[in-house]
Amino acid sequence: MVVQGHGVFLRFKLNKATSSGDIETINKLSEKIKHHLGGHINHSLYWKMLAPPKKGGGKLPGKNSKLMKEIEASYGSADNLMNHFIFEAQQVQGTGWVWLNYDLQSHKLRIDKTRDQENVLLQENLAPLLTIDAWEHAWYPTYKNEKPKYFKEIWKIVNWDYVEKRFNNPSKKVEI
Ligand SMILES: [Fe+2]
Repeated sequence: MVVQGHGVFLRFKLNKATSSGDIETINKLSEKIKHHLGGHINHSLYWKMLAPPKKGGGKLPGKNSKLMKEIEASYGSADNLMNHFIFEAQQVQGTGWVWLNYDLQSHKLRIDKTRDQENVLLQENLAPLLTIDAWEHAWYPTYKNEKPKYFKEIWKIVNWDYVEKRFNNPSKKVEI
């Protein structure tokens, strides 16, 4: 709701700047809108991609599933995929997100990082399957200075069911 309220305010200011031709303000506001909208989209995905263990969180896709076969073909095993992901996550300096994506051109899985509240939806070839918040607020309250522990533990609550649904029907669509 905060994002929505913020969005209305920014839109009002943007309309005002547009009608007066204030290019500098338009540019500044566009960046702000991109940032807030990106944050809203990324968190919307993040919440859907997590689930408590009693609701299936951490339960890997079935051995014979299309997703597991692709993970094994690309990374050798789910453990290897997670280790690759953790490695990339640890390279995020400051704020950002880590993604498991489906490349719509090469039809392969890939791991990407984005800065701040940027996301992969703007990249034509990428359909997000999983994203992990690498902002300090995601891990510091629970893990303090043990950032690697957050990236290791988060897999216990990854909603693979949702990831698998996205993989079976790769798309840029996000319900926000
Ligand atoms: Fe966050």
